[in-house]
Amino acid sequence: MNFFLDTANLDSIKKAAELGMCDGITTNPTIIFKEGKDHKQVVMEIGKLVSGPISIESVGETAEQMVEDGKEFVKWVRNPVIKVPMTKEGLRAVRMFNKIGIKTNVTLIFSASQALLAAKAGASYVSPFVGRLDDIGQDGMVLVQDIVQIFKNYNFKTEVIVASVRSLKHVEDAAKAGAHIATIPPKIYEEMWKHALTDKGIEMFNADYKKSLEGKVKK
Ligand code: E4P
Repeated sequence: MNFFLDTANLDSIKKAAELGMCDGITTNPTIIFKEGKDHKQVVMEIGKLVSGPISIESVGETAEQMVEDGKEFVKWVRNPVIKVPMTKEGLRAVRMFNKIGIKTNVTLIFSASQALLAAKAGASYVSPFVGRLDDIGQDGMVLVQDIVQIFKNYNFKTEVIVASVRSLKHVEDAAKAGAHIATIPPKIYEEMWKHALTDKGIEMFNADYKKSLEGKVKK
């Protein structure tokens, strides 16, 4: 399973990349806006830290505008993926990008039918948004399970990026469902490392090691 980071925060990306835990990055206009820097500058900085795929979102309304955006974005990083919305124009853009060898990530997927359409159009990735489905009282992870099953049934090459991740459970359930990728916000990524019993165990082993050095014997 690949881990992407769902952020444009350079410090978070650097830390995860140093540990070999950052297989790629997903961004969107909101994520980049949060960093308070120029869009192009941020993406180019990310590109210096990460060799894996970096999703950059087009906000074009027509397929032609999306392709125009994409042709510019691919100059910014080594491994670009153009994010397009799950619309008819977005899927028309996917076909156009395929003809010129540019990878795509169809975003804002909320149903299995949408994922199926995107895969048939030849998308490199689809991004089902689990958290936003949970927010409206649906089970986002059921959608992930369905998409993984459908893609297996027909040997689609399209990879599933579990997006809108809000908890450790989302990451673990994405892995259980066999999703290719989870794109994880830095806060959740940090939580993945932690367990109170790990800290307690380290504390106890360190204390006992010190006692052994001091020649104290357990009675
Ligand atoms: C990733 O590609 C999405 O842009 C992101 O996961 C959306 O997450 P949100 O629902 O928390 O905004």
